[in-house]
Amino acid sequence: MNPVEIIRNKRDGKILTVKEIQYFVKGFTNGEIPDYQVSAFVMAVYFNGLNDNELYQFTKEMIETGEIVIPNANMDKYVDKHSTGGVGDKLTLIIAPIVAACGLKFPKMSGKGLSFSGGTIDKLESIKGFKVNINKNDFIKQIDEIGIGIIGQSENLAKADKQLYTIRDVTATVESIPLIASSIVSKKIASGSKNIVFDVKVGAGAFMKDINSGLNLANTLVELVKKFGGSSVAVVTNMNSPLGHYVGNSLEIIEVVECLKGNMPKDIEELVYELAGQLLIIGGKTSSLTDSKLIVKEKIKNLTGLDKFKELISYQGGDPSFINNYNLLPQAKYETIVKADNEGFISFIDAEKIGMISLNIGAGRMKKDDEIDYAAGIYLPRKIGDKVEKNDIIGKIYYSTENIEINLIIKKFKSAFKFVQKPEEETKLIYNVIR
Ligand code: URA
Repeated sequence: MNPVEIIRNKRDGKILTVKEIQYFVKGFTNGEIPDYQVSAFVMAVYFNGLNDNELYQFTKEMIETGEIVIPNANMDKYVDKHSTGGVGDKLTLIIAPIVAACGLKFPKMSGKGLSFSGGTIDKLESIKGFKVNINKNDFIKQIDEIGIGIIGQSENLAKADKQLYTIRDVTATVESIPLIASSIVSKKIASGSKNIVFDVKVGAGAFMKDINSGLNLANTLVELVKKFGGSSVAVVTNMNSPLGHYVGNSLEIIEVVECLKGNMPKDIEELVYELAGQLLIIGGKTSSLTDSKLIVKEKIKNLTGLDKFKELISYQGGDPSFINNYNLLPQAKYETIVKADNEGFISFIDAEKIGMISLNIGAGRMKKDDEIDYAAGIYLPRKIGDKVEKNDIIGKIYYSTENIEINLIIKKFKSAFKFVQKPEEETKLIYNVIR
C-alpha cells in the first residue's frame, strides 16, 4: 500500500477502505509514514471529512495504537465528563466532587492546557503536594474508596492521537470535526469510559466558532460513542466569554472552592446544574433534570461537595488547608489594575483574547513541555450585561516575571471588551442537548 495513494484518495473526496485506514494509522504511529505525509493527510480530512464508517474505523485504529484499560464490571456505573476546552472552564473541578458526593463513581483522566484553552491538571497542580500521576491499581482503589480521582492522561493511551495532535496543532487542522471527535473518543473509549457527558463549547474561546459546527460535533461525538457500545449526552454551550470571574490556575482553584461553598457566578451555576444533572441521569441516580437539580442544590448547601473536594485533595497527596486560607496557594509578585476608559454596558468579553493574555503572562503553555506559572492569571470582576462607569475596575492581571510588556497587555485586555450604550438581550448559555 502507498501513503501517496491514500492521501490522493482523501484529497479527491473518495471513501477510504478499512485496509487503507489501518495502514495509514499504524504507519504514522510507528514512524513509517513521515510527518509531511501525515500533514497532507490531515489537511485532506480537514477539507473532505470522514463518513460515519471511516470515522469509526479511524477511531478504532487509534484506540488500538495504545493501552486499552480492561473494563471491570463496576465500570458500567462510572461516569465521565469531557469539555472540548474553553477559557476559565473549571467546571470539572466543581461538578466531579458534587456528583461523587451523590454516590456516583467519577474517575477522570484530564489533560493539560494548550494554547488559549486551560487544563484541569494544571489547575490541580497549583495545589501543594497534589499528585496527578498515580498507578492504575492505586487509582482503581481510590475510586472504590472515595468515588473520585483525577489524574493526568496516561502516556500510553491512543498513542496515535499524540502524534496526530502535535501535527494538527502546527498545520491549522485542529478545527476539524472528525479529527476532534476521533481524538476525544479514542481516549475516552481506551480509558474505559462508558457513560459520558460532553460539554461542547462554541464561540470565540472554543475550537468550534459557530453553533452549527458545535451541533455537528456534538452529534458526531454522541453517535461515535454509541458505535463503541457507550452512552453519552452532549450539551452545546456558549464559550464566547470566559466562564466565571477568574482565569489562571491557582485563581481558578479559589473560584472552585467558592462555588462549592455556594458562591457561584450565574454562568457557572447554570452549567453546573445542567452538566451535573445530566451526569446524575446518565449514572442512573435520577430520571429527570428537575430531580437532579434538587440533589445538586442540596450537595452544595450542605457542603458535601466541598468535603468531597477536600477528600480528593488529601487522597492524592495535596494539602487542603488552603481552603481556609487562600494565601497558601501560589502568589503572584505583581498585580496590575485595568480601568474602563468609558462608561457603558459590557456586551462581549472575547474569551480567546483573554485566554491568549493568560498565556502571555505565563499561566498557559504554547508548547506541550513549557513551564507555567501557577499564580499568573486574570480577575474579571464584571460580566456581560454589567453597567460600567468610566474608571471602574474591569480587570486585574496577576504575573510574576519582569519581562512582560504590561502596557501592551493592558491594551490587548481592553480590546477584548465591547461596550454598548443600552443593555442587550441576555445571550444564551446552553444552546442544545444532544443524546
Ligand atoms: N480535545 C482533544 O482531546 N482533541 C482535540 O482534537 C480537540 C480537543
